[in-house]
Amino acid sequence: MDRKNISCAKANANIAIIKYWGKKDEKLKIPFNNSISFTLDAFYTITKIENSSEDEFYINDTKQDEQEKTKIFNFVKNFRSDFNQKIKISSYNSMPTAAGLSSSSSGFAALTLALNKHFNTNKSIDELSRISRLGSGSSSRSFHTPFCLWKSDDDINSIGTKVDSNLDLSMIIVIVNDKKKEISSNQGMKMCVDSSSIFEKWYTQANIDSLKMISYLKNNDFTNVGKLMESNTNLMHRTTLFCETPFSYLTYKTYKVIDLIKQIRKSGLECYYTMDAGPNVKILCKKEDSYQIYEILSKTYPKDKLILSNCGKGFEVWSE
Ligand code: ADP
Ligand code: DP6
Repeated sequence: MDRKNISCAKANANIAIIKYWGKKDEKLKIPFNNSISFTLDAFYTITKIENSSEDEFYINDTKQDEQEKTKIFNFVKNFRSDFNQKIKISSYNSMPTAAGLSSSSSGFAALTLALNKHFNTNKSIDELSRISRLGSGSSSRSFHTPFCLWKSDDDINSIGTKVDSNLDLSMIIVIVNDKKKEISSNQGMKMCVDSSSIFEKWYTQANIDSLKMISYLKNNDFTNVGKLMESNTNLMHRTTLFCETPFSYLTYKTYKVIDLIKQIRKSGLECYYTMDAGPNVKILCKKEDSYQIYEILSKTYPKDKLILSNCGKGFEVWSE
């Protein structure tokens, strides 16, 4: 068989239940506050790397523009010592790219793992999480499942670590818009750091929230996990409204989903909402209730806009 020696990796995306929103060091991507995430089985990236005559970068078989290519190949420098060793990177996202559905988290985690394999750098998981953070902050949390804490610390210690919990949860994603967002997460959080009048309040509260969340997870207290996730989400999104030029990632369609979640909750089924830098809504619930909640949602939303996901099983690395 013709073996081309392709280095491959698969990583799950993660959704923050305590949000990362703001860098105190832009270059090193050190956040102002701790964040905590839940990994998704249904949202992932598979990245394949092979030697080539020139550097190339594809997502879902589409050649990426010069700006994206430059960003990615600057990141490759963390692993490649011989610049003459050109590579082709072919990556596949299971979710829409750059639509607030966390493609950057699985995208950079899978790229980090595949580069580590391709260049035989044999780095530890802590080191891979640290390097991945330099590509995209949230990706540092894709190395542990199902719950991961990313600490706001110095360069070496600002990495993902596993959070203990026996909660068996699922997430239902309601896609109200799968188009690329106009303001990237990176730009949006920078606008908030630079001019939101409630930014200090946000990160001070988020750090308090992260400690509470760790304790709720450890105590398997789903009700408080869900309530805290919602209040943390709401405060994060409020920061955008208090910028010099206010903006919002949320739309009328987002609020319609939130209304439905509140109704479902009133009917006795526990579920809670969160949104990232985009209008799509992620609903956290117990795995045992997930199918029933999915069925209720499917009376209002078409099934191709609803994704029911269990927690991610962890990353994989292999050769082809
Ligand atoms: P999202 O909400 O999907 O995470 P972001 O705006 O935060 O969107 O990040 C999108 C960026 O993440 C892309 O512009 C690209 O740089 C990076 N990205 C997405 N998918 C991949 C991938 N498969 N491999 C490498 N980088 C990726
Ligand atoms: C709202 O990790 O995509 O999803 O570090 O600039 O690449 P960069 O940002 P990114 O931001 C994610 C922001 C968020 C919240 C979260 O995932 O914690």
